[in-house]
Amino acid sequence: MKATKAVIPAAGFGTRFLPATKTVPKEMIPLVDRPLIHEVVMEAVRSGIDRLVLVTAAGKSSIEDYFDINPALERFLEEKGKGEILEEVRRISRMVEVLAVRQKEPRGLGHAVLCARDLVGAEPFAVILPDEIMDSEIPCLMQLDALFSRTGQSVIGLQEVPRSETGKYGIIDGDPEQGGAYRVRGVVEKPDPAKAPTRMAVIGRYLLAPEIFPILENLPPGAGGEIQLADALDILARRGELAGQVFQGTRHDAGDKLGFLMATVHYGLKDRRLGPPFLRFLREKISSLGEK
Ligand code: UTP
Repeated sequence: MKATKAVIPAAGFGTRFLPATKTVPKEMIPLVDRPLIHEVVMEAVRSGIDRLVLVTAAGKSSIEDYFDINPALERFLEEKGKGEILEEVRRISRMVEVLAVRQKEPRGLGHAVLCARDLVGAEPFAVILPDEIMDSEIPCLMQLDALFSRTGQSVIGLQEVPRSETGKYGIIDGDPEQGGAYRVRGVVEKPDPAKAPTRMAVIGRYLLAPEIFPILENLPPGAGGEIQLADALDILARRGELAGQVFQGTRHDAGDKLGFLMATVHYGLKDRRLGPPFLRFLREKISSLGEK
Protein backbone atom coordinates (compact mmCIF):
# COMPACT_ATOMS: atom_id res chain seq x y z
CA MET A 1 0.00 0.00 0.00
CA LYS A 2 1.19 3.54 -0.81
CA ALA A 3 0.33 4.95 2.62
CA THR A 4 2.35 3.55 5.53
CA LYS A 5 1.00 5.84 8.26
CA ALA A 6 -2.53 5.95 9.59
CA VAL A 7 -4.03 8.79 11.59
CA ILE A 8 -6.57 7.68 14.20
CA PRO A 9 -8.55 10.63 15.57
CA ALA A 10 -9.57 9.70 19.11
CA ALA A 11 -9.90 13.04 20.87
CA GLY A 12 -13.71 13.33 20.89
CA PHE A 13 -15.82 13.26 24.05
CA GLY A 14 -17.91 10.28 22.91
CA THR A 15 -21.10 11.93 24.16
CA ARG A 16 -23.34 9.19 22.74
CA PHE A 17 -21.71 6.77 25.17
CA LEU A 18 -21.97 8.86 28.32
CA PRO A 19 -21.82 8.19 31.21
CA ALA A 20 -19.31 5.39 30.41
CA THR A 21 -17.11 7.78 28.43
CA LYS A 22 -16.81 10.14 31.37
CA THR A 23 -13.77 8.08 32.39
CA VAL A 24 -13.36 5.30 29.77
CA PRO A 25 -12.36 6.47 26.29
CA LYS A 26 -14.89 5.26 23.72
CA GLU A 27 -12.02 3.65 21.81
CA MET A 28 -11.30 1.40 24.82
CA ILE A 29 -14.83 -0.03 25.12
CA PRO A 30 -14.48 -3.72 24.27
CA LEU A 31 -16.12 -5.85 21.64
CA VAL A 32 -16.06 -9.18 23.51
CA ASP A 33 -12.50 -8.83 24.90
CA ARG A 34 -10.80 -6.43 22.49
CA PRO A 35 -11.15 -2.65 22.66
CA LEU A 36 -12.58 -1.02 19.53
CA ILE A 37 -9.17 0.51 18.80
CA HIS A 38 -7.59 -2.97 18.72
CA GLU A 39 -9.93 -4.07 15.92
CA VAL A 40 -9.15 -1.05 13.74
CA VAL A 41 -5.41 -1.25 14.37
CA MET A 42 -5.47 -4.90 13.27
CA GLU A 43 -7.20 -3.80 10.08
CA ALA A 44 -4.51 -1.16 9.52
CA VAL A 45 -1.67 -3.62 10.11
CA ARG A 46 -3.27 -6.19 7.77
CA SER A 47 -3.35 -3.41 5.15
CA GLY A 48 0.39 -2.70 5.44
CA ILE A 49 0.32 0.30 7.81
CA ASP A 50 3.35 0.27 10.13
CA ARG A 51 3.00 3.56 11.98
CA LEU A 52 -0.01 5.01 13.78
CA VAL A 53 -0.56 8.63 14.63
CA LEU A 54 -3.08 8.76 17.48
CA VAL A 55 -4.81 12.08 18.00
CA THR A 56 -5.73 12.02 21.68
CA ALA A 57 -6.89 14.33 24.43
CA ALA A 58 -6.79 14.64 28.20
CA GLY A 59 -8.04 11.46 29.88
CA LYS A 60 -7.16 9.23 26.92
CA SER A 61 -3.72 7.96 27.95
CA SER A 62 -5.08 4.41 28.40
CA ILE A 63 -5.15 4.16 24.59
CA GLU A 64 -1.37 4.69 24.37
CA ASP A 65 -0.80 2.40 27.36
CA TYR A 66 -2.73 -0.33 25.57
CA PHE A 67 -0.11 -0.45 22.79
CA ASP A 68 2.84 -0.18 25.19
CA ILE A 69 4.74 -2.98 26.91
CA ASN A 70 3.49 -3.85 30.43
CA PRO A 71 6.43 -5.72 32.03
CA ALA A 72 4.64 -6.37 35.37
CA LEU A 73 1.63 -7.93 33.64
CA GLU A 74 3.86 -10.01 31.35
CA ARG A 75 5.85 -11.28 34.36
CA PHE A 76 2.66 -12.13 36.24
CA LEU A 77 1.18 -14.09 33.32
CA GLU A 78 4.49 -15.90 32.79
CA GLU A 79 4.67 -16.95 36.46
CA LYS A 80 1.07 -18.19 36.37
CA GLY A 81 1.75 -20.21 33.21
CA LYS A 82 -0.90 -18.31 31.21
CA GLY A 83 1.01 -18.67 27.94
CA GLU A 84 -1.79 -18.10 25.46
CA ILE A 85 -2.97 -14.76 26.83
CA LEU A 86 0.66 -13.72 27.47
CA GLU A 87 1.38 -14.18 23.76
CA GLU A 88 -1.66 -12.07 22.85
CA VAL A 89 -0.65 -9.31 25.30
CA ARG A 90 2.89 -9.31 23.86
CA ARG A 91 1.65 -9.23 20.27
CA ILE A 92 -0.41 -6.07 20.96
CA SER A 93 2.62 -4.09 22.11
CA ARG A 94 4.72 -5.24 19.17
CA MET A 95 2.28 -5.00 16.30
CA VAL A 96 2.82 -1.38 15.33
CA GLU A 97 4.73 1.79 16.19
CA VAL A 98 2.51 4.37 17.86
CA LEU A 99 3.05 8.13 17.82
CA ALA A 100 0.65 10.44 19.58
CA VAL A 101 -0.34 14.07 19.38
CA ARG A 102 -2.81 16.01 21.50
CA GLN A 103 -5.79 17.90 20.21
CA LYS A 104 -6.26 20.39 23.01
CA GLU A 105 -9.92 21.06 22.29
CA PRO A 106 -12.32 18.93 20.23
CA ARG A 107 -12.62 21.42 17.36
CA GLY A 108 -13.84 18.83 14.88
CA LEU A 109 -12.63 15.84 12.87
CA GLY A 110 -10.92 18.04 10.27
CA HIS A 111 -8.99 19.84 13.01
CA ALA A 112 -8.01 16.49 14.57
CA VAL A 113 -6.51 15.37 11.24
CA LEU A 114 -4.69 18.71 10.92
CA CYS A 115 -3.13 18.13 14.38
CA ALA A 116 -1.34 15.07 12.89
CA ARG A 117 0.30 17.10 10.08
CA ASP A 118 3.84 17.29 11.48
CA LEU A 119 3.91 13.57 12.30
CA VAL A 120 2.53 12.59 8.89
CA GLY A 121 4.82 14.78 6.76
CA ALA A 122 4.44 15.23 3.02
CA GLU A 123 3.27 11.71 2.16
CA PRO A 124 -0.06 10.06 1.46
CA PHE A 125 -1.67 8.73 4.63
CA ALA A 126 -4.72 6.85 5.87
CA VAL A 127 -7.36 8.12 8.29
CA ILE A 128 -9.27 5.54 10.32
CA LEU A 129 -12.21 6.39 12.55
CA PRO A 130 -11.87 4.02 15.48
CA ASP A 131 -15.58 3.67 16.21
CA GLU A 132 -16.38 2.22 12.79
CA ILE A 133 -15.54 -1.46 12.75
CA MET A 134 -15.12 -3.16 9.40
CA ASP A 135 -15.18 -6.90 8.87
CA SER A 136 -14.07 -8.00 5.41
CA GLU A 137 -11.76 -10.50 3.77
CA ILE A 138 -9.79 -7.75 2.03
CA PRO A 139 -9.22 -4.99 4.64
CA CYS A 140 -11.15 -1.81 3.85
CA LEU A 141 -8.02 0.36 3.40
CA MET A 142 -6.63 -2.12 0.88
CA GLN A 143 -9.89 -1.94 -1.05
CA LEU A 144 -9.40 1.83 -1.28
CA ASP A 145 -5.73 1.49 -2.18
CA ALA A 146 -6.39 -0.13 -5.56
CA LEU A 147 -8.10 3.08 -6.74
CA PHE A 148 -5.59 5.31 -4.93
CA SER A 149 -2.65 3.62 -6.67
CA ARG A 150 -4.40 3.77 -10.05
CA THR A 151 -5.54 7.41 -9.95
CA GLY A 152 -3.13 9.05 -7.50
CA GLN A 153 -6.17 10.87 -6.07
CA SER A 154 -7.39 10.86 -2.49
CA VAL A 155 -9.96 8.08 -2.01
CA ILE A 156 -12.82 7.87 0.50
CA GLY A 157 -14.69 4.73 1.56
CA LEU A 158 -18.37 4.68 0.59
CA GLN A 159 -21.42 2.69 1.59
CA GLU A 160 -25.02 2.98 0.37
CA VAL A 161 -27.42 3.93 3.19
CA PRO A 162 -31.24 4.15 3.34
CA ARG A 163 -32.47 7.60 2.30
CA SER A 164 -33.97 8.09 5.78
CA GLU A 165 -30.42 7.94 7.24
CA THR A 166 -28.59 10.49 5.05
CA GLY A 167 -28.78 13.01 7.93
CA LYS A 168 -26.28 10.91 9.89
CA TYR A 169 -23.48 10.94 7.28
CA GLY A 170 -21.41 12.93 4.84
CA ILE A 171 -23.11 12.18 1.50
CA ILE A 172 -21.41 12.46 -1.87
CA ASP A 173 -22.56 13.89 -5.13
CA GLY A 174 -20.91 11.93 -7.91
CA ASP A 175 -21.01 9.38 -10.70
CA PRO A 176 -20.44 5.64 -10.49
CA GLU A 177 -17.62 4.16 -12.54
CA GLN A 178 -16.45 0.55 -12.85
CA GLY A 179 -15.91 -1.84 -9.93
CA GLY A 180 -17.62 0.23 -7.22
CA ALA A 181 -15.47 3.30 -7.92
CA TYR A 182 -17.03 6.78 -7.90
CA ARG A 183 -15.94 10.08 -9.35
CA VAL A 184 -16.83 12.40 -6.46
CA ARG A 185 -18.09 15.88 -7.39
CA GLY A 186 -18.97 17.11 -3.91
CA VAL A 187 -19.52 16.11 -0.29
CA VAL A 188 -22.47 17.40 1.75
CA GLU A 189 -22.37 17.01 5.54
CA LYS A 190 -25.51 15.34 7.02
CA PRO A 191 -28.12 16.43 4.43
CA ASP A 192 -31.87 16.01 5.00
CA PRO A 193 -33.15 13.01 3.01
CA ALA A 194 -34.95 15.31 0.56
CA LYS A 195 -31.75 17.27 -0.16
CA ALA A 196 -29.26 14.38 -0.33
CA PRO A 197 -27.72 14.22 -3.84
CA THR A 198 -27.19 10.42 -3.58
CA ARG A 199 -27.48 7.68 -0.95
CA MET A 200 -23.71 7.09 -0.95
CA ALA A 201 -22.34 7.82 2.53
CA VAL A 202 -18.74 8.57 3.43
CA ILE A 203 -17.55 5.90 5.89
CA GLY A 204 -14.68 6.14 8.34
CA ARG A 205 -11.80 5.12 6.06
CA TYR A 206 -9.83 7.57 3.94
CA LEU A 207 -6.61 7.53 1.92
CA LEU A 208 -5.53 11.12 1.60
CA ALA A 209 -2.88 13.02 -0.31
CA PRO A 210 -0.99 15.59 1.83
CA GLU A 211 -2.67 18.36 -0.22
CA ILE A 212 -5.55 18.04 2.27
CA PHE A 213 -3.50 19.81 4.99
CA PRO A 214 -3.39 23.35 3.50
CA ILE A 215 -7.10 23.01 2.75
CA LEU A 216 -7.83 22.09 6.38
CA GLU A 217 -5.60 24.87 7.63
CA ASN A 218 -7.60 27.52 5.80
CA LEU A 219 -11.05 26.08 6.43
CA PRO A 220 -13.57 28.12 8.42
CA PRO A 221 -15.68 26.28 11.02
CA GLY A 222 -18.60 24.44 9.43
CA ALA A 223 -21.57 22.50 10.84
CA GLY A 224 -21.70 22.67 14.66
CA GLY A 225 -18.93 25.30 14.67
CA GLU A 226 -16.36 22.52 14.01
CA ILE A 227 -13.61 22.21 11.38
CA GLN A 228 -15.21 19.47 9.28
CA LEU A 229 -13.18 16.95 7.29
CA ALA A 230 -16.23 16.69 4.99
CA ASP A 231 -15.83 20.38 4.03
CA ALA A 232 -12.17 19.83 3.09
CA LEU A 233 -13.15 16.76 1.06
CA ASP A 234 -15.81 18.86 -0.69
CA ILE A 235 -13.11 21.32 -1.80
CA LEU A 236 -10.92 18.45 -3.09
CA ALA A 237 -13.95 17.01 -4.92
CA ARG A 238 -14.79 20.33 -6.58
CA ARG A 239 -11.22 20.49 -7.86
CA GLY A 240 -11.75 17.05 -9.40
CA GLU A 241 -9.22 15.48 -7.03
CA LEU A 242 -11.38 13.03 -5.05
CA ALA A 243 -12.50 9.49 -5.77
CA GLY A 244 -14.71 7.08 -3.80
CA GLN A 245 -14.72 3.32 -3.48
CA VAL A 246 -17.72 1.30 -2.29
CA PHE A 247 -16.63 -0.94 0.61
CA GLN A 248 -17.30 -4.66 0.26
CA GLY A 249 -17.89 -6.08 3.73
CA THR A 250 -19.73 -5.54 7.00
CA ARG A 251 -19.54 -2.20 8.76
CA HIS A 252 -20.69 -1.46 12.29
CA ASP A 253 -21.02 2.01 13.75
CA ALA A 254 -19.86 1.08 17.23
CA GLY A 255 -19.88 4.73 18.37
CA ASP A 256 -23.65 4.48 18.46
CA LYS A 257 -25.32 2.38 21.18
CA LEU A 258 -27.50 0.29 18.86
CA GLY A 259 -24.61 -0.16 16.39
CA PHE A 260 -22.37 -1.21 19.27
CA LEU A 261 -24.87 -3.86 20.43
CA MET A 262 -25.08 -5.20 16.87
CA ALA A 263 -21.28 -5.32 16.62
CA THR A 264 -21.13 -7.18 19.93
CA VAL A 265 -23.55 -9.82 18.62
CA HIS A 266 -21.57 -10.05 15.34
CA TYR A 267 -18.20 -10.57 17.05
CA GLY A 268 -19.68 -12.69 19.86
CA LEU A 269 -21.08 -15.12 17.29
CA LYS A 270 -17.75 -15.15 15.40
CA ASP A 271 -15.77 -16.05 18.52
CA ARG A 272 -14.50 -19.63 18.27
CA ARG A 273 -15.29 -20.55 21.89
CA LEU A 274 -18.12 -18.23 22.78
CA GLY A 275 -19.98 -18.36 19.46
CA PRO A 276 -21.88 -21.69 19.87
CA PRO A 277 -23.14 -21.12 23.46
CA PHE A 278 -23.91 -17.47 22.63
CA LEU A 279 -25.98 -18.56 19.62
CA ARG A 280 -27.92 -21.03 21.82
CA PHE A 281 -28.58 -18.23 24.29
CA LEU A 282 -29.80 -15.87 21.54
CA ARG A 283 -32.08 -18.56 20.05
CA GLU A 284 -33.63 -19.31 23.45
CA LYS A 285 -34.04 -15.62 24.12
CA ILE A 286 -35.75 -14.99 20.79
CA SER A 287 -38.07 -17.98 21.09
CA SER A 288 -39.03 -16.98 24.64
CA LEU A 289 -39.86 -13.48 23.37
CA GLY A 290 -41.99 -15.08 20.63
CA GLU A 291 -44.06 -16.93 23.26
CA LYS A 292 -45.04 -13.70 25.01
P1 UTP B 1 -17.61 11.50 16.51
O1 UTP B 1 -18.47 12.37 15.69
O2 UTP B 1 -18.03 10.09 16.66
O3 UTP B 1 -17.47 12.24 17.93
O4 UTP B 1 -16.14 11.61 15.94
P2 UTP B 1 -17.22 11.65 19.37
O5 UTP B 1 -16.91 12.78 20.27
O6 UTP B 1 -16.20 10.54 19.37
O7 UTP B 1 -18.59 10.94 19.77
P3 UTP B 1 -20.07 11.54 19.98
O8 UTP B 1 -20.61 11.82 18.61
O9 UTP B 1 -19.98 12.76 20.85
O10 UTP B 1 -20.78 10.41 20.67
C1 UTP B 1 -15.58 10.68 15.04
C2 UTP B 1 -14.14 10.43 15.44
O11 UTP B 1 -13.38 11.63 15.38
C3 UTP B 1 -12.77 11.90 16.61
C4 UTP B 1 -13.56 11.12 17.67
O12 UTP B 1 -12.74 10.80 18.77
C5 UTP B 1 -14.01 9.90 16.86
O13 UTP B 1 -13.03 8.89 16.87
N1 UTP B 1 -12.76 13.36 16.87
C6 UTP B 1 -13.90 14.07 16.68
C7 UTP B 1 -11.60 13.98 17.27
O14 UTP B 1 -10.54 13.32 17.43
N2 UTP B 1 -11.63 15.31 17.50
C8 UTP B 1 -12.73 16.06 17.34
O15 UTP B 1 -12.68 17.28 17.54
C9 UTP B 1 -13.91 15.41 16.91
